[in-house]
Amino acid sequence: MENIIPHNFHIGKTERNKINGHNSFVVWLTGLSGSGKSTIASQLEKELFEQKIKTFSLDGDNIRKGLNNNLGFSVEERQENLRRIAEVAKLFVEAGSVVIASFISPLKKDREIIKNIIGKEDFVEVFVNTSLGECERRDVKGLYKKARAGEIKNFTGINAHYENPVDPDLEIKTEEESLEDALKRIVLHLQEKLKISVQ
Ligand code: ADX
Repeated sequence: MENIIPHNFHIGKTERNKINGHNSFVVWLTGLSGSGKSTIASQLEKELFEQKIKTFSLDGDNIRKGLNNNLGFSVEERQENLRRIAEVAKLFVEAGSVVIASFISPLKKDREIIKNIIGKEDFVEVFVNTSLGECERRDVKGLYKKARAGEIKNFTGINAHYENPVDPDLEIKTEEESLEDALKRIVLHLQEKLKISVQ
């Protein structure tokens, strides 16, 4: 037996998920700048981490400053930004992680592309629905003010479109629901998806 070497044995998602004891997939948070995507993402990651689930977060900070630092905010560049992110997310899913991706991802067409790259069974769409008025009132990064002053072009909600998801898996209305309640709902929704089906 010692000279029988397994040939071409591919360790894929299924094998890694089995070892980890949970499925891997992408939780995609879409919504306006300042809608609360990153806040939800970091709390969600903490909750899942405490459940010993392998997670990885993708957001503007680790993507637009590195891999995608050559891309701006035109329709074409956003599409390329999101296409690359979807491909990266897919690799992490193959590696066994639950990926939490927070990107404005404003257009339906681009979210369809993302879903097709990742695969619809591994894609959970969460619409972080905060009104433009509220995002602008919060203006955490001061970008809405600049956009209104004409200092930023193609700013989502001001002079670039955001198309609401039609049928998201979850919708979080941050003006009506507490962060705690929203998290509970997301975690509950993910429990079934995390379970490995016994064959
Ligand atoms: S996306 O449209 O391509 O999905 P992404 O989520 O990567 O956008 O980046 C959005 C972040 O970039 C915003 O939260 C904001 O901090 C910053 N930003 C800079 N310029 C713009 C712009 N023109 N429109 C939207 N966000 C911008």
